[in-house]
Amino acid sequence: NATTYTARAHTNIALIKYWGKKDEDLILPMNSSLSLTLDHFYTETSVTFDEKLSDDLFFLDNQKQDVSNVSTFLDIVRKKANIQSKAQVYSTNYVPSTAGLASSASAYAALALAASKAAGLELDKPSLSRLARRGSGSACRSIYGGLVEWQAGFDDETSFAYPIKMPNNFEICMIALIISTNHKKISSRMGMKRVVETSPYYSNWVESSKKDLLAIKKALAENDFKTFGEISEENAMKMHALNMSAHPHFSYLEPDSIKAMKIVEGLRLQGISCYYTLDAGPNVKVICLKKDVSSIVNIFSNSFGHEKVLVASSGPAAHLI
Ligand code: DP6
Repeated sequence: NATTYTARAHTNIALIKYWGKKDEDLILPMNSSLSLTLDHFYTETSVTFDEKLSDDLFFLDNQKQDVSNVSTFLDIVRKKANIQSKAQVYSTNYVPSTAGLASSASAYAALALAASKAAGLELDKPSLSRLARRGSGSACRSIYGGLVEWQAGFDDETSFAYPIKMPNNFEICMIALIISTNHKKISSRMGMKRVVETSPYYSNWVESSKKDLLAIKKALAENDFKTFGEISEENAMKMHALNMSAHPHFSYLEPDSIKAMKIVEGLRLQGISCYYTLDAGPNVKVICLKKDVSSIVNIFSNSFGHEKVLVASSGPAAHLI
């Protein structure tokens, strides 16, 4: 009796970044992080365990893929559910590959939900978040919608995400400016590993991101968007500064990233409350309130072309469909 379950999970953008692991196998982070789940970008995944299959199968956007990472993840699910059957996994990514937004977060959150249900497990949300974390750290946050904190914890049981209340007057939007669609030269997995191993500033990052997380939660509790944005931007810059302090040093920033960052700084001088953040790539994501979206989109469209500008707002939790 092979039952298929299909799940949809949305990607997320980190405002306090996860950057560094203390356990690479269990994916336990060095620091806690905070993110916003996004509405327009998501992955849908169907999973069927079938005892007639001789091997796991994985299709992404209708194309057969190497199954090894998916199989490693499914092994965790099989062990929990005490089953041996192989599975077929069909995924469709609605995170435009051009968006430069991490799709591993939505991918592993959707896979965790669909695979655990298909294996007959009934996981509560913390357990589901822990399972998603084993695929990709940031995926543990995509189990929830809106604002989400991933508490670093100290072991597998204590490292999971939970939702944070969105202030009433916050209509947060994210404008992504696509600067390059080239595949990243240094994956986040490699980048954070190098930084942990070689940056002389790494321990300061851990301390400083702890303070940033407390301060950003205080700003949220006080409905203070300006402070919320300022802390996000500073935290992202600290992460990028760490990369430049690694050995060998590296940077995800491109000339156009800097150009976009300067535009955002200029907009602030004109009284528009907007702040940038960047992940393991050159694309610039601007955090702003809904009322300012159209003016920011116009300026970016004029400088970079309207096809480079994508807008999203707060999105829902992972769910079955
Ligand atoms: C810069 O979650 O992709 O986007 O756990 O190795 O799969 P792995 O890394 P991943 O790293 C995300 C890094 C980041 C910051 C963040 O999302 O918190």
